[in-house]
Amino acid sequence: MDVVQAGALLHDSGRVVFGCPGHHITGAIYTAFTLLRFGFSWEFTKQVVHCVASHHGNSRIKPKTLEARIVADADALSHFTEQDYLIGLRRKDGEERYQAILWLRKKLRSDLENKLTIPEARAKASSYYKKLNGK
Ligand SMILES: [Fe+2]
Repeated sequence: MDVVQAGALLHDSGRVVFGCPGHHITGAIYTAFTLLRFGFSWEFTKQVVHCVASHHGNSRIKPKTLEARIVADADALSHFTEQDYLIGLRRKDGEERYQAILWLRKKLRSDLENKLTIPEARAKASSYYKKLNGK
């Protein structure tokens, strides 16, 4: 398993185990304990922890490695391709559909402006965003 694979698998572990708020931080802690407990090296663990801690677009922790940028950008791109799933999650939490759609539009705009760092990923997301807005 490489750093990107582990980061992709664990990036939302904090959300699953502890809930949404601050899940990039709780997930980073959970990731560190989990990887070390299963015998992964400290060097590998640190790299994966950085992927998890920096995947959240609105965080002050920005991805500093190529691996972390790939995990964060893949996560952001999935928001553009899995819109029904994300709206469903909000609806499950009791939100009205139109509110969930407004939330998603804001999230996609934020991903485009603040999260995506790899030019090819940004171009792909921009294309999805234009189609979403009928352009
Ligand atoms: Fe996340």
